[in-house]
Amino acid sequence: MCGIMGYVGKEEAWPIVVGGLRRLEYRGYDSAGVVTVSRKRLRLARSVGHLRALEDSHPEGLPGTVGIGHTRWATHGGVTQANCHPHLDSAQRIAIVHNGIIDNVEALRKELVAQGVEFRSETDTEVLAELIGREVAAGRGLRDAVLRALRRIEGTAGIVAVDRNDPERLVAARIGSPVVIGLGDGACWVASDALALRPYTDRMVVLEDSEIAEISPDGVRTVDLDERDRDKRVEKILHRPEEAEKGDYEHFMLKEIWEQPLALDRSMRGRLDAGMGSSRLGGLETHEQRLFDIRRVVFCACGTSLYSAQVGAYLMNRYARMPATAEDAAELAVQNPIVDRHTLYVAISQSGETADTLGALREIRLRGGLVAGITNVVGSSLARETDFGTYVHAGPEISVCSTKAFTAQVLATELLSLRFARMRDLGANEGRAWVAALEKLPAQTQGMLEQWQLCKQMAERFQAAPYTMFIGRGINVPVASEGALKLKEIAYVSAEGLSGGGMKHGPLALIEPGLPVWALVPPDETRERMLGNLRELEARGAYIIAVAAADDTEVAELVDTVVPLPPHHPTVSPMLTVVPLQLYAYYVALAKGYDIDKPRNLAKSVTVM
Ligand code: F6R
Repeated sequence: MCGIMGYVGKEEAWPIVVGGLRRLEYRGYDSAGVVTVSRKRLRLARSVGHLRALEDSHPEGLPGTVGIGHTRWATHGGVTQANCHPHLDSAQRIAIVHNGIIDNVEALRKELVAQGVEFRSETDTEVLAELIGREVAAGRGLRDAVLRALRRIEGTAGIVAVDRNDPERLVAARIGSPVVIGLGDGACWVASDALALRPYTDRMVVLEDSEIAEISPDGVRTVDLDERDRDKRVEKILHRPEEAEKGDYEHFMLKEIWEQPLALDRSMRGRLDAGMGSSRLGGLETHEQRLFDIRRVVFCACGTSLYSAQVGAYLMNRYARMPATAEDAAELAVQNPIVDRHTLYVAISQSGETADTLGALREIRLRGGLVAGITNVVGSSLARETDFGTYVHAGPEISVCSTKAFTAQVLATELLSLRFARMRDLGANEGRAWVAALEKLPAQTQGMLEQWQLCKQMAERFQAAPYTMFIGRGINVPVASEGALKLKEIAYVSAEGLSGGGMKHGPLALIEPGLPVWALVPPDETRERMLGNLRELEARGAYIIAVAAADDTEVAELVDTVVPLPPHHPTVSPMLTVVPLQLYAYYVALAKGYDIDKPRNLAKSVTVM
């Protein structure tokens, strides 16, 4: 959600810190601020609204070669300038930026108020700043002060702090909220997301939970909360800087929709075994023996990732004959889950930082469960905290609305299901047919994208529709839900994704003449029953847009518009049928003039429960 950027080096910090915050804008925020240190004074700039407002209020920037900045998404206290980060202690000596939530803030605030502290904001961060400030005032170095203050808090904190009396140094800490440090020659950068670092360096150190780093222009020294030195591995930031830029596209969302063929291709490269009709997933192979004992798979995720998980569960049941379910991670974490050693848990998260998904996997691991991770973000918490896992390599996804991560995550569940299927019931020839279908997928997805004009036409026609229905059966039920989620999220249209089988049990009552209904009717075992749904819809005058085989004349006669599908293996259809739904949502939002990449009330990465 919130973004952190810091710099210490020889150059002016302001443009670097603001530039880093700009690259984190996609996460969503409502105010921004920066502190620099110059001549042993903290220089502070804060502003409600976009970064542009912060820059306009300080056209010259702030002086100093060390600085920290923050984009805030209000949690404790309203969207006001006083609540913006950075926050200073009452002696105005130290400043901090903070991501996360301090659960015991009220008790700490009371204690400090009783000692005469007058807080200027409603934030938990100011309380933490005061705790650190008091330690520094008592003669401790900044790192020790941060350490002692952190020992007093309960909750989550990704923080960076600076002391005006020691301006050659930043101190960063991670208690549950991500912090990464970029390494350069005579300079270091610190951020909540590697995306902000990439223009400056491709070398980073990722803080683990409960680690504190002292960052100077010469490098980083990391200790744990017990002050034991930690040996840190220098990791490579894999994406290219331009991958996080819009290029010629009007919106990141459109760019990311069009990147799907490339993302799928990259994601499956080296992972298909055409000869054996199987897949190879690096992380999986290290636990291969244990996998033979698995009798059940439980996927867990949130939002769009949950829909990819539902596709995965379908594939496991249907093709691997492995009992599988997909659980909402937010629910699983609090349900006192029954965990057994013959179950494989698979946590899916684009960002790898979704608090609910991390909460679920921590709960499962605490009970001895084996957890695999599927994520897009290298070095994310999910990647670090699972027993093994796989990266989907979709490239940075900047738009709040997830698109290419969905198809890449579905692909990862395909590869996992194929592997299990081949360990169990699926014969070599059937496995080879599945692999062949996957190999064709990037080109076929490209073919689906070429139908953008038809999707745009539909969007312009129905942009004012107050409600839209999406229906599918079998493997396409989650895709219908995903189509509805996209439309809700960026076009603010009330929408539902439903199973065709459930229509007669209630939702059919919503159908009235002209109501737009997207129907997913691929030529698989669900087609006959979907034809029944189409007849019901047609009889009630719905405007039906079907995603169906190009040569399916029976469907064409029943519906108003067909978005044609190429011939394909039934396992891969979600990665094809979802494309027109993504394009439709995009063009509805475009026609309505909404802020597509940053929809209201939403943030890219939901790091609070
Ligand atoms: C929808 C969307 C969200 C995310 C959800 C989980 O377009 O982006 O529903 O899918 O917040 O996020 P990750 O996958 O990062 O765990």
